[in-house]
Amino acid sequence: MEPSFWHEKWQLQQIGFHQQQVNPFLVKYWSQLDLAEQSDVFVPLCGKSLDMCYLAEQRHRVLGCELNPLAVEHFFIDNDLAYQVEQCGEHCLYRAGEVHIYQGDIFTLPQDLTKTIGGFYDRAALIAWPEAMRQQYAVALAQLIPANVTGLLITLDYPQDSLQGPPFAVSPDWIQTHLAPYFDVELLECVDVLADNPRFVNKQVPWLNEAVYKLTRK
Ligand SMILES: C[S@@+](CC[C@H](N)C(=O)[O-])C[C@H]1O[C@@H](n2cnc3c(N)ncnc32)[C@H](O)[C@@H]1O
Repeated sequence: MEPSFWHEKWQLQQIGFHQQQVNPFLVKYWSQLDLAEQSDVFVPLCGKSLDMCYLAEQRHRVLGCELNPLAVEHFFIDNDLAYQVEQCGEHCLYRAGEVHIYQGDIFTLPQDLTKTIGGFYDRAALIAWPEAMRQQYAVALAQLIPANVTGLLITLDYPQDSLQGPPFAVSPDWIQTHLAPYFDVELLECVDVLADNPRFVNKQVPWLNEAVYKLTRK
């Protein structure tokens, strides 16, 4: 989606994607990645996700990237974190303790900033892009993740013609075609979550699969 779409969503607080608790897949699978304590973890398109608090509690330094300044400010304010802001090239760096969020476009985030990461976490980032832009995002993500770095990817899949995204459907086939050239891909779990998603039920979407993958950069 274009930046204006997301800026408007944050301005109007139409942020149905934001979860009021830490993502259960993150809690269930993060330790399986076996990352070193205190390694840096990259969270692309981070919004104001509480998942960043969980990662910081696991003694990681969190490096988020988020387009919208309100989202970033709300993350720190909602979590009672006093933050500092400084200009960092064309991004604005907001930081408090172990959480550093680069506010700006993921497509222009300098690769230097992520060269020390030991892990990454993509929830509702890949699925935020329509098909054409998703491929560009996959390439940008791969460029930002150094070789051998592991992460979790959480996706949704459903018959795309039954509902207009975002979130957009991302199938296992799409992942094989577009991510497997860059990452070793392992499906950890896939569950039908239709019953928990009234928007999809109301639109008579027949099924809705949430999947979690372990990705390791080749
Ligand atoms: C569907 S939300 C997911 C947020 C977060 N991952 C979560 O789980 O709550 C997608 C987020 O990506 C941000 N975004 C969209 N385009 C972006 C871009 N080009 N660079 C950085 N962030 C972007 C949006 O502002 C929005 O907060």
